Amino acid sequence: MTTTFKVGYFIGSLASASINRKLATALVRLAGPGFKMSEISFRDLPLYSYDYDEDYPAVARAFKQAIAEVDAVLFVTPEYNRALPGGLKNAIDWASRPWGENSFAHKPSAVIGASIGAIGTAVAQQNLRSVLSFCNSPQMNAPEAYIHFTPGLVTDEGEVTNEGTREFLANYMAEFHKFVARVYTTLPRGE
Ligand code: FNR
Repeated sequence: MTTTFKVGYFIGSLASASINRKLATALVRLAGPGFKMSEISFRDLPLYSYDYDEDYPAVARAFKQAIAEVDAVLFVTPEYNRALPGGLKNAIDWASRPWGENSFAHKPSAVIGASIGAIGTAVAQQNLRSVLSFCNSPQMNAPEAYIHFTPGLVTDEGEVTNEGTREFLANYMAEFHKFVARVYTTLPRGE
């Protein structure tokens, strides 16, 4: 029997026409019954400062609670200036604090992204991976997924129009499920 895991996904872009939002919609459609997917929004978080650590605002507490409630996290992100977008980094900083309450510790993760350029967010993903390493999140190493987003590749409804890409993304989600299962088989929650 397939174990069902809750996955919270972060969309690194705040743009209304985000191609990474389209990609995330496709991944939700392609996720098998072993995943229950929900978006974790970081749009309303203020800019982080450790001045907040004494008393996190309600929006930040709700954000950390949303991460606490999922078994794994998936980052679907663009590359901005050869790095992860500032808004996403700010959200990760909020989640990582206050000291000793890092929301990503032992929480399995995967990274994927779409770009209009051929490099397909490779540099941003390496950048994000080093941040997640410091945050002690076990990451799926492979398959990697650098999506070169051409016009119409994914519809607004999340339908992937290229058969090869559709198969690749379905396999990516299947591999992510196996990875999450492996992490929790090796190390049960809370240990
Ligand atoms: C970009 N873009 C971009 N693309 C890329 O492959 N490498 C990069 O370093 C950058 N840098 C960059 C900086 C900024 C500020 C913007 C707005 C854009 C182009 C990027 O791939 C394109 O705008 C995508 O549409 C961004 O994804 P979302 O936001 O639509 O999901």
